[in-house]
Amino acid sequence: MKETGVDARILELFRAGDGFVSGAALSRLLGVSRTAVWKHVKGLRASGYLIEAVPAKGYRLLGSPKLLNRLDVTAGLATRRIGSSLICLNETESTNAVAFKMAEEGAAEGTVVIADLQTAGKGRLGRVWLSPAGVNLYCSVVLRPAISPVAACQLTFLSVVAVARAIEKCTTLAPQIKWPNDILIGGKKVAGLLNEMNAETEKVNFVVLGIGVNLNMRLSQLGEGLRHPATSLLEEGGVEVDRVLFARTLLTELDELYDRFLLEGEGPMRAEWLERSAIRGRTVRVSQGAREFTGEVQGVDSFGALLVRVGDGSVETVLSGDVTLIPGK
Ligand code: BTN
Repeated sequence: MKETGVDARILELFRAGDGFVSGAALSRLLGVSRTAVWKHVKGLRASGYLIEAVPAKGYRLLGSPKLLNRLDVTAGLATRRIGSSLICLNETESTNAVAFKMAEEGAAEGTVVIADLQTAGKGRLGRVWLSPAGVNLYCSVVLRPAISPVAACQLTFLSVVAVARAIEKCTTLAPQIKWPNDILIGGKKVAGLLNEMNAETEKVNFVVLGIGVNLNMRLSQLGEGLRHPATSLLEEGGVEVDRVLFARTLLTELDELYDRFLLEGEGPMRAEWLERSAIRGRTVRVSQGAREFTGEVQGVDSFGALLVRVGDGSVETVLSGDVTLIPGK
């Protein structure tokens, strides 16, 4: 979908009023001819905007396209860094792959890639992330923090807390966090995060935060044989989530948290992460390939590693693997 600066202004003017905007007013405010206004309206209609035209009254916006698009997501977005450049794709293999390539080619910090549909969405540990069209959010953000590669895992706190906050702001649901980067509602997974990094020994070149949130997907679309029980915000709350509003809210939260991370480090985010943790104090099974053990979760360290007290009283530092809650413990 290609919109020009004039398209964006027309949409802003439609949204600023609550009725019709005349062709004459549009032409005067935009500094273009009435024929040009009409051509832009036709272009916007072709992009899926529902625009009514009534003689002697003018134009009125009745609906925006269902596809996520840059103009809608950036309308009223007041972030400092995140979304400085925003690309909305109708379809791609993986927004992380696109953002990673763009970052390799020099994309600026804050560049965001969103897709309506992913044909090869990437999950953690080489898994597939189910990404049907028109219902969820698939989003990747390029960051270039001046930190060491070891500290980069702290950025997981940032994206997880941002998603949890966005869910709280856009729904009445209470998200919980499961280490390392799952968001659960009622014990079922509703969002996942995949951070990918390009670094040298001493310094990070860039990090891509990959965020997938099941917004309006139906249980029937979830498919059989998922590793963990999954759900969507619509299934849990019974209300369709406005995808544009959710995307904008998420970018705003990411921006605020990233500012704070650069100024104060991971401390404040880690505290928020722990407040929402579904597993603090609970007994879990940790699976790391062939190795499995159980223990009680004590918390997370400043690098995002899970601290688990095992049978002999010692504390294991878990850097990778899968964690399952043991029911009733
Ligand atoms: C997980 O396994 O929990 C992580 C899932 C991450 C999915 C998101 S969707 C947007 C971005 N692009 C991808 O290909 N993956 C991430």
